[in-house]
Amino acid sequence: MKEKLEKIKMESIKELEGIQNLQQLEEIRIKYLGKKGELTQVLRGMGALTAEERPVVGQLANEIRDYITEKIEETAYCLKRRDLENRLRTEFVDVTMPSRKLEIGNKHPLTKVLDEIKEIFIGMGFTIVEGPEIEKTYYNFDALNHSKYHPARDMQDTFYISEDVLLRTQTSPVQVRTMEKQKPPIRILAPGRVYRADEIDATHSPMFHQIEGLVVDKGITMANLKGTLDVFAKQLYGETTKTKFRPHHFPFTEPSAEMDCTCAACKGEGCRICKYTGWIEILGGGMVHPKVLKKCGIDPEIYSGFAFGMGLDRIAMLKYDIDDLRLMFENDKRFLSQF
Ligand code: DAH
Repeated sequence: MKEKLEKIKMESIKELEGIQNLQQLEEIRIKYLGKKGELTQVLRGMGALTAEERPVVGQLANEIRDYITEKIEETAYCLKRRDLENRLRTEFVDVTMPSRKLEIGNKHPLTKVLDEIKEIFIGMGFTIVEGPEIEKTYYNFDALNHSKYHPARDMQDTFYISEDVLLRTQTSPVQVRTMEKQKPPIRILAPGRVYRADEIDATHSPMFHQIEGLVVDKGITMANLKGTLDVFAKQLYGETTKTKFRPHHFPFTEPSAEMDCTCAACKGEGCRICKYTGWIEILGGGMVHPKVLKKCGIDPEIYSGFAFGMGLDRIAMLKYDIDDLRLMFENDKRFLSQF
């Protein structure tokens, strides 16, 4: 039995020397010290020894077990250290290296101007709402008091999807949708894309943007419209901005007007941007037609309202002195990064 133990010792020393990784080490631990391990077997067989032999063999067996245990721990420590050193070497991070530059984008000029306009109206108690771009003829035309023969209804001016579904030509249908759902007081701003069958050129695009405004309550008058839009123009273009209203016609407002404001570029002196008139037309508006109120279930005897609509693209072009609408939609980084 003594020889067997010595043999185990010699073998284990040899095997432990050749160890390459922790898994091999674990295999060796099981081989010698595990439940069915070689050394364990020997220790189990000690019952067959004589009383004199037992302490001698026992002591030797314990020595060998301690030796192997210690050796395994030592080897494990060395292997772990070696792995760590390897990792530290290969996973080296050079913290002094210049970082890769993150390109941060900026807002599209239309988004910037829209944000600014929204802020102004939110400050006056308006809520932002949206409506569908694919719209029913009813909301885009009929409910807005467009006569059956209104030229905008023509196939040449409007993209139809079917006889009664189209790409909205204006944001005004959002007025109708809002009044159908919500009872006065109403104070909303509805920005969004609109579509018209126009050829693309420097001032036209088959897709562009409008912002619609609607206020309905008891006792709303044209004075409220003028006051609201005058405050808006002054906040957008500066305190010295003046506004004027010219009579106009829209089917869904009566009376209707267009609003001009003094040119922000020349302060009304006259320049290239305002075509030397000193004034720039920025929106249309008026008092919501009683027929429109009625169609939406609002009693025009009790309530009145004003509405307005403006072209966002045009306002942005004037603000940033952009002379070609196409630039807005071409996605050219050289253009977009200027704002
Ligand atoms: N929807 C009109 C257009 O596309 C703009 C407009 C004018 C909207 C007057 C209004 C309004 O709400 O009252 O030309």
